[in-house]
Amino acid sequence: MKILVTGGAGRLGRSTLAALSAAGHEVVSVDRATAPDFDGRQVDIDLAHPTAFSGFVAAEAPDAIVHLAAIAVPFSAPEGVILDTNSRLAFTVLDAAREHGVARVLAASSPTVMGYGSPTGWEPDYLPLDEEHRARPWNAYALSKQLVENLVAMFARQQTSTLFGAFRPCFVISPGEWSGEPTQQGHTVVDRLNDPSLAAVSLFNYVDARDAADFVVAWVERAGADANGEVFFVGAADALALAPLSELLPYAAATGLDGTAPAFSSAHATDRLGWAPTRSWRTELPPEQRALLAGPDAS
Ligand SMILES: NC(=O)c1ccc[n+]([C@@H]2O[C@H](COP(=O)([O-])OP(=O)(O)OC[C@H]3O[C@@H](n4cnc5c(N)ncnc54)[C@H](O)[C@@H]3O)[C@@H](O)[C@H]2O)c1
Repeated sequence: MKILVTGGAGRLGRSTLAALSAAGHEVVSVDRATAPDFDGRQVDIDLAHPTAFSGFVAAEAPDAIVHLAAIAVPFSAPEGVILDTNSRLAFTVLDAAREHGVARVLAASSPTVMGYGSPTGWEPDYLPLDEEHRARPWNAYALSKQLVENLVAMFARQQTSTLFGAFRPCFVISPGEWSGEPTQQGHTVVDRLNDPSLAAVSLFNYVDARDAADFVVAWVERAGADANGEVFFVGAADALALAPLSELLPYAAATGLDGTAPAFSSAHATDRLGWAPTRSWRTELPPEQRALLAGPDAS
């Protein structure tokens, strides 16, 4: 397939370009920035200009579009800018796909739609969280991602010629970050494991960028017509924590989230697409990073 990846130069985009290319697809990165180490085509388009992207889609006639471009960090810009940018970019990309009859479009949402971390308090209705759990966004980033999901559902209701989907990648850790490069939040993976307060706000969720990219490959290749408008959690099979979540989250004690179990279930992606994560902090942290762990290694 010929596949356009918006945001291909980003943390998740770079692994997505690599995974789709390795699976034999013709991949084009559409980003204002350049992805290092990618041999395929890279096109500099600012998605804030809808006609430029629409014209590009018309000329390229791709089989699929993977939409990752966004302001990816909550509170990294004024709230109004995040809401405007993320919702506008998603509308531009999804609408161009509809207009030009692209067969498949997958857009990045986020687990933050759940609403955890709200300053007025948040508790889950149940754990582990799945796609049926109600969404209660409390900031512009999370709301913009709920809007992405609503756009996916809206376009899916309009027609059947384009298959639309959304996925919620957990906290993405790219390959270099296992070796000590700063994560999206500026600290290292080891910092995050050693200080539970850093990851507690997001319920210790995470996913290796290559696993999330493998999900994209699975969706693009295997999502069926009956999946139009579907949303998927995409997370690791364990929590990014040294202790069981039943010890770290006050409301998790009664839920049976013991051992290494995560607070998010990716079972829907496994059931529907046969995708499952294959990497964990336990398999990916190199010995020199593992040696920096403060507590007993829970592996
Ligand atoms: N990183 C995570 O932990 C995480 C978790 C959940 C969801 N997501 C979502 O996944 C997607 C990818 O996240 P990421 O961490 O790779 O983000 P990133 O910030 O690393 O990459 C985003 C890319 O989008 C590009 N971009 C932004 N605005 C653009 C525009 N107007 N025109 C063209 N390109 C533009 C940027 O240049 C950048 O390369 C985002 O939608 C993000 O919200 C990320």
